[in-house]
Amino acid sequence: MKKIFILFLLCTAFHSYADEVDAGRAKAEAACSLCHGRIGVATLPNAPNLAGQQAIYVSEQLRNYRSGKRQNEVMNMIAKQLTDSEIAQISAWFSSIKVAVEAP
Ligand code: HEC
Repeated sequence: MKKIFILFLLCTAFHSYADEVDAGRAKAEAACSLCHGRIGVATLPNAPNLAGQQAIYVSEQLRNYRSGKRQNEVMNMIAKQLTDSEIAQISAWFSSIKVAVEAP
């Protein structure tokens, strides 16, 4: 019985993480893809890649842009429109993208 309960808890945890990633993906495609690309590889030369970036880092930057602690005209304006839960969803999405790196 205990095992089944733990399994249930694990399933709900993974389910909500997947939901968070999906919601973040939809929001990022609508609001961020113009500059950061559809899967987080930047389409503008002055915009950073976000694919595979740590969620903790992405959400900290977004909160800093929102509060004005980090200054950038475009990102300050965009981050002001994000709620805490949208920041968590978008950060989960970008960190979930798998990235492969290779030294030259
Ligand atoms: C109009 C273009 C544009 C759009 C749209 C845009 N960004 Fe940005 N973003 C930028 C630029 C340019 C920078 C670099 C700003 C700087 O130098 O601080 C940036 C920086 C960032 C950073 C900091 C990355 C780092 O490496 O420190 C994050 C995180 C970020 N954007 C997330 C988002 C999210 C999430 C969205 C959508 C909700 C979004 N951006 C929409 C242009 C854009």
